Amino acid sequence: TARIFRVAIDGPAASGKSTTAKLLAEKLSFGYIDSGAMYRAITLKCLRLGISPSDSSKATEIGKIAQATTITFPNMSSVVVDKTEDVSSEIRSSTITSNIGGVASNKSVREALAEMQRALARGDYPETFEGREGINHNGKQVKGMVMDGRDIGTVILPDAELKVFLIADAQVRAQRRYDEMVQRNKLEEGETVDKIKKELEQRDHEDTTRAVSPLKKADDAVELDTSNLTIPQQVEAIEELIRNRMDKFQ
Ligand code: CDP
Ligand code: CDP
Repeated sequence: TARIFRVAIDGPAASGKSTTAKLLAEKLSFGYIDSGAMYRAITLKCLRLGISPSDSSKATEIGKIAQATTITFPNMSSVVVDKTEDVSSEIRSSTITSNIGGVASNKSVREALAEMQRALARGDYPETFEGREGINHNGKQVKGMVMDGRDIGTVILPDAELKVFLIADAQVRAQRRYDEMVQRNKLEEGETVDKIKKELEQRDHEDTTRAVSPLKKADDAVELDTSNLTIPQQVEAIEELIRNRMDKFQ
């Protein structure tokens, strides 16, 4: 089988990872895997079972939940849990976001999800891309895949063909999230740019300081500050890096 060109995109919350990754995947006909959605899905399962992710006495139980869960991506923007339930919209709620820290810092959760993420990147997680032309779908193989998250370039795919580290000013990121909520009609009561900024900074702090797989730029990652870029500009910049490296890759 042909090798898959793997693109790892990491960076802090709202730096533009998923927007950029999706557009790149569409343009290049690559697969796309949203690793953050997987942490969100485990958080949702815990909350439904009445387990608080921050309760350290529940760490073993939470790890077992992750080990027993399958997470699949039937298309670019859907996340399905245990093969039956589409949780795409529910996992984006602020309740999930504010509870995710205890799941993301759980070592056995990370081990279970790492295994799934590496299988997805290799393309041997067949049921995942059912219904669309994805990695190794129906024997068809895509030329590449993009995975975004926090530890993709450092831990999950340390030998990725391209690693990108996206950053953006916290004020800009908060404003973007706010605008996105307004646009989607999802602005919750009492939400302000300032409040969102504090939450983003709090999550960045948790993500960069946790013991297991903290958010960190890989030594060989290309850093791109999107603060003053438009979405097409940041997509084009990375697309050019991919095309240059793909010439040598084949
Ligand atoms: O879209 P946003 O950047 O707000 O978040 P996300 O990518 O959906 O990730 C949500 C949370 O999951 C992050 O704040 C991390 O705590 C965790 N996560 C992680 O630990 N490792 C990853 N590879 C991806 C996400
Ligand atoms: O995945 P991550 O949390 O890193 O960020 P995102 O959800 O892709 O992007 C956060 C928001 O910033 C989205 O509403 C994007 O449309 C917006 N945005 C951007 O990503 N890049 C720009 N140059 C301008 C806006």
